Amino acid sequence: MKTIDVCLSPELIHLYDVSDKAVVVVDILRATSCMVTAFAHGVECIVPIASERECEQMKLKGYVISGERNGQKIPGFDKGNSPFEYMDENISGLKIAFTTTNGTQAIEKSKGAKKILIGSFLNLSAVSKYLLMSDDNILIVCAGWKGKVNLEDSLFAGALVDTLRKHIEPDCDAPIIAQELYLRAKDDMLNFLSTSSHVKRLNRLNIHKDIEFCLTQDKYGVIPVLNRGELTLL
Ligand code: MLT
Repeated sequence: MKTIDVCLSPELIHLYDVSDKAVVVVDILRATSCMVTAFAHGVECIVPIASERECEQMKLKGYVISGERNGQKIPGFDKGNSPFEYMDENISGLKIAFTTTNGTQAIEKSKGAKKILIGSFLNLSAVSKYLLMSDDNILIVCAGWKGKVNLEDSLFAGALVDTLRKHIEPDCDAPIIAQELYLRAKDDMLNFLSTSSHVKRLNRLNIHKDIEFCLTQDKYGVIPVLNRGELTLL
């Protein structure tokens, strides 16, 4: 039977052998939710970049530069990290270079995996169906916050484990913890997350509607996948 595991923080990724695994990177609030939204609205590719400076330099190569630090748009960048900025019709066909506080760092740390997919509640069923059909063992990598565990990414991990659990064996206890958490929260995730550190941070920045949107399940059927440093549609 295939196995599933959950890496609750990118700082723990050294404990896993990713070379034979399909890794699902998740940053619910808000990097991977933005990426999925952007692909659902027709972007051609997204280059995820850990460093702000390297991302900025991509402007010279014709990329739209997007990103945030600590939840706020980087001054001088074209776009920030709200999914609502990626619903525009003008987004279609664009090439985007993207840097975020945690999401793009988690993608960087996952390099070396057999496959890297981008997950969010917005494309949960699409990711789940794909993983069920593939032969690969699975690792969900939660972006967390600056190396620390967070609630919202752990909840997504639990939701994905919950959809796959009958067919796939947990490799350790983290998938069981995440699934239990999701089962407790699933009927009112918004309320469950009201005490989460990043929800509080976003609320302090007056970012409210993104939170509810990023918890919407199965709005889109797209799966971004990393190929040679670039995210494109599967
Ligand atoms: C991140 O990558 O840390 C987040 O997406 C932060 C944010 O909500 O902008």
